[in-house]
Amino acid sequence: MRGNALLALLLLVGALSSYYLYSPIPEQIEQRWKLLLTDCFFRTLSHLADLSELLGVKDYMGIMMFITKMEAVVPVSDEHVRVTEELFDGVQVMVYEPNCRHSDGDLRRAVIYLHGGGWCLGSSRMEPYDHLSRQMVKELNAVVVSVEYRLAPAHHFPVPFQDVYRVVKYFLQRSVLARYAVDPERIAVSGDSAGGNLAAAVAQQLHQDPEQQVQLKVQALLYPVLQALDLNTPSYQQNENMPILPRRLMVRFWSEYLTSNKSLFRAMLTNSHNGLESASLLKFVNWSTLLPESFRGSYRYSAPPIEAQGAGPALDGLTDPRASPLLVPDAALRPLPKTYMLTCEYDVLRDDGLMYATRLRHAGVHVTHRHYSGGFHGALMFVVWPTDFDIGHRMTRDYVRWLEHNL
Ligand SMILES: *[C@@H]1O[C@H](CO)[C@@H](O)[C@H](O)[C@H]1NC(C)=O
Ligand SMILES: *[C@@H]1O[C@H](CO)[C@@H](O)[C@H](O)[C@H]1NC(C)=O
Repeated sequence: MRGNALLALLLLVGALSSYYLYSPIPEQIEQRWKLLLTDCFFRTLSHLADLSELLGVKDYMGIMMFITKMEAVVPVSDEHVRVTEELFDGVQVMVYEPNCRHSDGDLRRAVIYLHGGGWCLGSSRMEPYDHLSRQMVKELNAVVVSVEYRLAPAHHFPVPFQDVYRVVKYFLQRSVLARYAVDPERIAVSGDSAGGNLAAAVAQQLHQDPEQQVQLKVQALLYPVLQALDLNTPSYQQNENMPILPRRLMVRFWSEYLTSNKSLFRAMLTNSHNGLESASLLKFVNWSTLLPESFRGSYRYSAPPIEAQGAGPALDGLTDPRASPLLVPDAALRPLPKTYMLTCEYDVLRDDGLMYATRLRHAGVHVTHRHYSGGFHGALMFVVWPTDFDIGHRMTRDYVRWLEHNL
């Protein structure tokens, strides 16, 4: 029923907005028409959100939240999976467990999963995430902890990070792991997009924490956001207008994550948001050295300018590795666990992932890098009819299979 209504809406939007059909979507991308219609829907919503904010009806992210609500489900237990809502150190989580009695001493793996949505949108209760959590329980016999961290702009950085970190610290206590029959040697942290950002940040912080005993076995980063210093990498330029995450929207997410001050958004749009504090860190995101040549293409490197004013009040967050995990020296990368890195060709964030993969490898971390040459940002979310894409299914399959073998 809901699917039908959604399809009707998509078609209506598609018909009404034929002027959008001049589109940057490359000819060779698979299921192009479906992607075009899906993109029409998102772009229309984004324009409505802009209009609403302009008229003072509701702020931009308030309207965009419709996406989250549209896909919301009430996660319930079934014959294979037991779902419970818990508070881990005061933070809401959904715990998905195999719905069968485990015999004593038979310990299970665990995946701590962090949803995407630019730190501003999304929920573990969205159908695609609920779906993915169940799939991981069934195929990996794992316990999945899907974290309902608080969102920007109501809660700027570092609140979303801190919520996630509290959950991870709580869960990694031996007594808590025992309660869920989880093997302390087989725990993953993972997430997509902004969730991949939080996952990478958490993995780093755990190793900076002298009291932390249980560590992660793997991190799986799915088209993650990893830095905000250079928003003009070749992938940002190449995919400026690509669905589902045009550059303008990613810039918006970054600025809303860090501050309510709109001047950061405007400065980030022109990549002129760096102050003196950024100067010594630009080498960590220097794509002329960190990107493989095939991805540099014909783009010419010029370092983002350092402005005397910079981003002002937001600067603390801008250069904080808990927001931009690429900004740590090699020594902080060395202890990191085995890594799965997913990148997509048609994604502004492609180069964030590529640069992190390069840096992790240089630091001696084992990295499995899976690049989808026909992939677009957000594809993992598109696995439910009518907006299901073959590539989303393939990505999910490859990812879960990697966990099967490495977790
Ligand atoms: C980036 O790397 C290039 C090539 O090695 C170098 O010439 C340039 O100075 C670097 N810039 C920054 C900001 O690190
Ligand atoms: C927003 O940031 C700009 C640039 O740093 C600053 O000049 C301005 O005073 C800030 N506005 C507010 C309301 O804080």
